[in-house]
Amino acid sequence: MLIAMSSAPGGLFHPFLSLCIALLLLLLPGEAYQDLSDDTLRSLPRPGNDFDIHDGALLSPILIPRVSGTSGSTKVLNHFVDFIRTSLPEWQIEYQNSTQTTPVSKGKEVPFINLIASRDPPGVQPGDSGRLTIVAHYDSKYEPEGFIGATDSAAPCAMMMHAMRSIDAALTQKWEAEDPLSNLEEHKGIQFIFLDGEEAFKDWTDTDSLYGARSLAEQWDSEVHAAMSTFKTPLSSISMFVLLDLLGAKNPGIQSHFKVTHWAYKKLGGIEKRLRELKQFKSSNSESGTPWFLDIAKSEDQLSTAFPIGDDHIPFLKRGVEVLHVIDAHPSRGFPEVWHNTNGIPDDGEHLDLDTVEDWSILITAFAAEWMELEGFMPNGGDSGSSVQDTRAENVKRSPQGAKHYNQKTEL
Ligand SMILES: *[C@@H]1O[C@H](CO)[C@@H](O)[C@H](O)[C@H]1NC(C)=O
Repeated sequence: MLIAMSSAPGGLFHPFLSLCIALLLLLLPGEAYQDLSDDTLRSLPRPGNDFDIHDGALLSPILIPRVSGTSGSTKVLNHFVDFIRTSLPEWQIEYQNSTQTTPVSKGKEVPFINLIASRDPPGVQPGDSGRLTIVAHYDSKYEPEGFIGATDSAAPCAMMMHAMRSIDAALTQKWEAEDPLSNLEEHKGIQFIFLDGEEAFKDWTDTDSLYGARSLAEQWDSEVHAAMSTFKTPLSSISMFVLLDLLGAKNPGIQSHFKVTHWAYKKLGGIEKRLRELKQFKSSNSESGTPWFLDIAKSEDQLSTAFPIGDDHIPFLKRGVEVLHVIDAHPSRGFPEVWHNTNGIPDDGEHLDLDTVEDWSILITAFAAEWMELEGFMPNGGDSGSSVQDTRAENVKRSPQGAKHYNQKTEL
């Protein structure tokens, strides 16, 4: 993002060297990215009943107050860890912990626990893998008491869980089929980060907010990978920081906030458009539904930078990480109506738009699959005529036990 190239001294630039560099650039496409086929988009795994707000195996356990340092927070953290250990044993689990005081902790240190779940190609050292990084915070607000934060960010956490399991088998198959170590391209890994302590306890300030993100960014900036690694620090191995926040209300409006990631924003918007055309969007089955990605037709230079939004990306952005901020912050409507319960409508499970939550989960799955170049490895039903209605019927058929049955082969 902020790379300053020093000019070659004396202007003596060997033509052969230039040729080599040109060839190298051809061999190392920095942004290798592969669109999914229509068939694969039609066959994306669906969450089925797992997003049920009362007994859905993924979402319902997160819909409780989970203020940092409380037992609710521990319960939700354990829910993520149990899910990963049980259903996704190939994923590495890592914690990044800190303690900090807050304006309401009366001098006591509050623990903030970030959870990182990652996969790298087999045999590739962590410092040699550039990781797509998908992030949401799992803590909820201290006030008002009992605040749930369904869009903020319980639903995004559940979407991440669904995306992880939906690409898991395809990652394994891709890495078995190709020898990653003989691959000339940069090694690509992926990580999902569940951040703690995003919310302010009292009033949002630089020190009362982003507790987990500040600690993680600082640690990952100072930790150094093994000598001769491709990436010097865990921070520099983040190939893109995709932050999900305030998602789950109907008709979201997502702006493109950063020039450097506008290409990836357009990819997300492109997937949205294709999923609608293929009738895979439950929240709007019409092709002409209001697009979520408002800036898809804009060029980098037309992006508005009028509203800088304070969120978990900031400590990473400040350190030069490329950020794609996927947040429902409409240029005229602002945040979702339920935001922080300020309009008298609680941000709880009952006020989620579950069709929208499901649509987000397949959109994020598709983006991760395209980034990781999983076409050919994702489940591909080949039943090319299927639409949302058909898949709904299939979900019912496939989940006879209902609540505690995962829609995929994974079971908790
Ligand atoms: C971080 O916190 C988690 C969850 O409480 C705990 O299991 C882990 O051992 C802690 N890690 C360190 C290094 O303290």
